[in-house]
Amino acid sequence: MGLLRRNPMKTQVMKSVLIVVVVALILRGGESRGVAKAKPKGPIKSESFQYSAMNCRAHSASLTEFGGVGDGKTSNTKAFQTAISKLSQFATDGGAQLFVPAGKWLTGSFSLTSHFTLYLHKDAVLLASQDLNEWPVLKALPSYGRGRDAAAGRFSSLIFGTNLTDVIVTGDNGTIDGQGEFWWQQFHKKKLKYTRPYLIEIMFSSDIQISDLTLLNSPSWNVHPVYSSNILVQGITIIAPISSPNTDGINPDSCTNTRIEDCYIVSGDDCVAVKSGWDEYGISFGMPTKQLVIRRLTCISPYSATIALGSEMSGGIQDVRAEDIVAINTESAVRIKTAVGRGGYVKDIYVRRMTLHTMKWAFWMTGNYGSHADGNYDKNAFPEITGINYRDVVAENVTMAARLEGIADHPFTGICMSNVTIGLAKKAKKQPWTCTDIQGITSGVTPTPCGLLPDQGTAKPGGCDFPADDIPIDMVEIKKCTYRSDV
Ligand SMILES: *[C@@H]1O[C@H](CO)[C@@H](O)[C@H](O)[C@H]1NC(C)=O
Ligand SMILES: *[C@@H]1O[C@H](CO)[C@@H](O)[C@H](O)[C@H]1NC(C)=O
Ligand SMILES: *[C@@H]1O[C@H](CO)[C@@H](O)[C@H](O)[C@H]1NC(C)=O
Ligand SMILES: *[C@@H]1O[C@H](CO)[C@@H](O)[C@H](O)[C@H]1NC(C)=O
Repeated sequence: MGLLRRNPMKTQVMKSVLIVVVVALILRGGESRGVAKAKPKGPIKSESFQYSAMNCRAHSASLTEFGGVGDGKTSNTKAFQTAISKLSQFATDGGAQLFVPAGKWLTGSFSLTSHFTLYLHKDAVLLASQDLNEWPVLKALPSYGRGRDAAAGRFSSLIFGTNLTDVIVTGDNGTIDGQGEFWWQQFHKKKLKYTRPYLIEIMFSSDIQISDLTLLNSPSWNVHPVYSSNILVQGITIIAPISSPNTDGINPDSCTNTRIEDCYIVSGDDCVAVKSGWDEYGISFGMPTKQLVIRRLTCISPYSATIALGSEMSGGIQDVRAEDIVAINTESAVRIKTAVGRGGYVKDIYVRRMTLHTMKWAFWMTGNYGSHADGNYDKNAFPEITGINYRDVVAENVTMAARLEGIADHPFTGICMSNVTIGLAKKAKKQPWTCTDIQGITSGVTPTPCGLLPDQGTAKPGGCDFPADDIPIDMVEIKKCTYRSDV
């Protein structure tokens, strides 16, 4: 049995002969350098299955072939690093997939490579190490200027990737458990020198798929694509205690062409938080998040938003489409958070078909969020918030319909709400709307909106805008891929 196998399916005979020779040469090279721990312990179980992905791979290997031990105690950081570094040699030869079998795989941070798929068996659990030596420290993100928890660097995420193309993290709903309790306590006690790690962060990359996984108890944010494009996030279940600090679900940050769909998120912070850098750092980095579609999201987050836009939005946020959103026992639905000093913009936001149960605010916009990277922000950097569209919303048991607070002399404009029915809670506030420094229109909205959002009646037939076209990532072809071991 070879260490690295090529899928026999669609390979021509000549090509496979060539590959076998190349693989043999690489293996010999590896062995002569003493790095190939090729022999798995115990009998080899043959595995074969199919899965869906943007790209299939020609070569396959299992973590056990690189010394991985799934006993929940042995560190697998080295095994992951060795496996991925070996498999990276196939980037220009059809790419490679690394299979993580059933078991509990303790590991610190490791980095992905291009043209690569990490695949978790349904009973595979990656357990995040609590040994700080297993977490390299990275510089602060350039668009943030400092770490969120601490001014110094930040711990590399559990699964990290930078400057990659064509990278997939998927599975049959396998689990990544951040074992966050340890980190949350350290954070609360202010004992951390560096910002807490995320579970998955991919930066400066394109063609990314993160799908069919369960993410538990992240130390901080769960999924963070940043400075990247062409991103598919699909079928992710994210669960963390509703009181855990900063356990945001999915945070597209200075990204273009992103599709997030069919996700279920219970967390202690925003289920999806759309970002693009912080104050003067985000302004000078100048990389917006644009072309983002979020659909079929279910969110439970009693102290945060279903979808937050900001508060770090200094590179701009434009063309966000959210549809078929369900929120239960969540503070607000699609919330805009910004402040003087942020600069940037939030514009062309389209939301339709939200079903909301038990909310504090159905609509919430905040122009005085504060929270600055440092004292050097530009007090004249006003964010531009315009073109915010909500339609076809049904909500029940809501404490307050809306709290909409723009910025004095820099109002939030072009707000449109149509076909919205908000059922208020028994203990609802007397005044269901509060509006300051905003401009816009409504039609068919109950209860009767504030005076700054006059009812247009039938003046806007069909309701507020929602684009009819697709974004490019909607048209990406999903292939049926095969993993086959032991042939
Ligand atoms: C990754 O790409 C960014 C942006 O192009 C560049 O600034 C950075 O140096 C690259 N990093 C590595 C490790 O190649
Ligand atoms: C994945 O696992 C989670 C946690 O056990 C479960 O809630 C969810 O329904 C599963 N998703 C799928 C698609 O099986
Ligand atoms: C109003 O919204 C509800 C809930 O999404 C939807 O069922 C209905 O079709 C919408 N009405 C119009 C006229 O679009
Ligand atoms: C309504 O919301 C309140 C909190 O505001 C909650 O205690 C109550 O259980 C909710 N009722 C229903 C029927 O969901």
